[in-house]
Amino acid sequence: MTHSLVDRNDIVDVVSGYVRLSKRSGANQFGLCPFHSEKTPSFSVNAEKQIYHCFGCGKGGSVINFIMEIENLGYRDAVAFLARRAGMPMPEEQNDAESRKRARMLALNKDSARFFYEQLSTPEGRRAGEYMAQRRISPATARNFGLGYAPDTWDSLEKAMRQKGYTDFELADAGLVRRGKNGGFYDTFRNRLMFPVIDVRGNVIGFSGRILGDGEPKYMNSPETLVFNKSRNLFALNLAKKSKSGYIILSEGNIDVVSLHQAGFDSAVASLGTSLTAEQARLLSRYTNQVIIAYDNDGAGLKASQRAINILEKLDVKVKVLRMSGAKDPDEFIKAKGPEAFRKLLEGSENQVDYRLRAVTEKYDLAVDEQKVEFLKEATELVARLPGAVERQVYAMRVAAQAGMQDAPILAEVERRHKRLVSRAYREEQRQQSQPERQSQPAEKALRYDDPDSARAEEGLIRLLSLEPALGARPELPEAERFSSPALGHIYSVLRGRIARHESVSSANLGEELNGDEMSLLVCIQQAPVSLTQSDRALQDYIKIIQERWQQRTQKDAPLDLRALATSQREKGKRYEGNG
Ligand code: UTP
Ligand code: MN
Repeated sequence: MTHSLVDRNDIVDVVSGYVRLSKRSGANQFGLCPFHSEKTPSFSVNAEKQIYHCFGCGKGGSVINFIMEIENLGYRDAVAFLARRAGMPMPEEQNDAESRKRARMLALNKDSARFFYEQLSTPEGRRAGEYMAQRRISPATARNFGLGYAPDTWDSLEKAMRQKGYTDFELADAGLVRRGKNGGFYDTFRNRLMFPVIDVRGNVIGFSGRILGDGEPKYMNSPETLVFNKSRNLFALNLAKKSKSGYIILSEGNIDVVSLHQAGFDSAVASLGTSLTAEQARLLSRYTNQVIIAYDNDGAGLKASQRAINILEKLDVKVKVLRMSGAKDPDEFIKAKGPEAFRKLLEGSENQVDYRLRAVTEKYDLAVDEQKVEFLKEATELVARLPGAVERQVYAMRVAAQAGMQDAPILAEVERRHKRLVSRAYREEQRQQSQPERQSQPAEKALRYDDPDSARAEEGLIRLLSLEPALGARPELPEAERFSSPALGHIYSVLRGRIARHESVSSANLGEELNGDEMSLLVCIQQAPVSLTQSDRALQDYIKIIQERWQQRTQKDAPLDLRALATSQREKGKRYEGNG
C-alpha cells in the first residue's frame, strides 16, 4: 500500500506544492526550507532517492514524512492525504477518529458558510446587503469571497446546522456556538457581515464577522480549533495564490483585501488581525518572492510594517513598502483616488532600505546637532548591514546628503561598522564550530546522544548497512541493545529486519516503521559522504567500538583504571570522525 503510494506521489511534485525549488545540483533540487527560517536554500529534494533533507535544520525523510511535517498530520492522515492526492482509494481512512473529526468540522464550516451566504438574499439579510453597498462591495465580489450574513438572532445557525445533523458539541468545537449560563447554546456570530477564512486547499477553516457599521467589537473571529490556526493562515491566500502578478500585497484589514481584489489587485491578503507571524511569512514565501506591504497609514501600521520586514527579510523574499498619503488604508485610498492611482503607488513602492532609512530620518530633527549625531549613528549602522559594497556606497552618500556632510567620513564610518559586523559574525561561526559535542549530536533537536563516541560508530554502521545491505548478513553484527542511542538502535533493527526479509532499505519506504525524528536522523546519516572501498575494515572497527563502549557503560561501577581505559577508547573513537 504505502509502496505504491510513494510511487504515485513523486516527492518533487509534492514538495513543489509548498516550496519553490530554485537551484539544482545533480539529482538534488534546492529551495528554502519550509521548516525553519532561512535566506539561502539548504533544503534539498532528491528525485532519485525520493527523499528530502535540510542541511540547515536536519529534517528529512520520505514524501510521507514531508506531508506529516508540513500539514501537521499523523502517519495515517498523511497517507490518506497522499492517497487522495493520487486519486487512490483509502479504505481505512474512515477509521481514524481525529481525521474523521477534522473532516466533520470542515464540512460543518462549509455548510455554515453556505448558510451565511444564503442569508444575504433573505429579507433580514438585506441589512448586510445595504452595508456592503455602503462599503461599495459588489455582489460579484461578495460571491468571490463567499461573504455572508449572520442573522440577528440567538440560534439561526444552530438550528439550521442541527437540522443538517450536526450536534451542539460539534458546533461548539468549531467555535460557531457558545455555551450560555443556563447550559444552552447560542450562535457566536450575530448580526455580522461574515468573511469565511479559506485555506490554500479550499477548506473553510474559520470565520471573521464584522459588525454592520460602528460598534464594539468591530470583528469577531473563530477561536483556535482543530482546523483553524490564525498564525498559520492568511485571509484570501486561497485567491491570491492564483494571481499572476508576481507579488503579494499584504494588508491589515479584511475590508482592504476585499476592496483590493475588487479593484483588480488579486494578490492581496491579510494576516487575520495579528501582526505577521513567522509561519505566515513562510507560507507567503511558498507562493511569491516579493511582498508589498500595504498596512494602515498610522503608528500601528508603521510598527507592524517594521516587524513584517524583519520577518520577511529572514526569508528569501523581497519586501517593498507602500507609501499611501491622504488615506488611512488601501480601501480608503482606492475609493478616494481610484485603482490607477493605487497601481502607480505599487510601482513606486519603496524598497526596504529606503523605507527604513526614511523611518530613521523621520525620528530626528537634523537641525539639532545632538540629534544629527544620533541620526548618523543609527543610519550608518543600518547601511553597514547591507551586504553589497555598491549598495552601501549609494546609501552612505544619501545619508551624507541628508545630514549635509561630506561623503568620505560617512563612507568610512559605514565601512568601519561593516567590518565590525563581519568579524563578529565570523567569530560567532568559529565559536559554534569549535563546540565539539555539537558536532557529534544529531541536527534534530529532539534527539540527544548520551555517548557520542559510540553513536558515531552506530551511525557509521547504519550508513554502511543502508549502502550495502549485504553486510547485514554478517554474524558478527551486534544486537541493537548494544547501541547507546535508542533511536539509532531502532533504526538499526528496522534496517536489519528489512534486509533479512529481502526488502528495500531505501529510506523512502521506511516511513511506517520509523518516527519522524528517526527518519530525519536516518536521512541525515545517509547524506554523509562515504567511501565503500574499505567498507569491511570500517564495519569491523564500528563493531569493535560499539562493543567496547557498551562494556564501558554496563560497568559503571568499575574501578578507576577502567575509567582511564574509557578515555583512551574515546580517543580511538575520534579516528572515525568524518571518515564515515
Ligand atoms: P481594521 O479595524 O483596520 O478593520 O482591522 P478593516 O477590516 O480594515 O475594516 P474597516 O475598513 O475599518 O471597516 C484590521 C483587521 O484586524 C482584525 C480584522 O481581521 C481586521 O480585518 N480585527 C480588527 C479583529 O480581529 N478584531 C477587531 O476587533 C478589529
Ligand atoms: Mn482597516
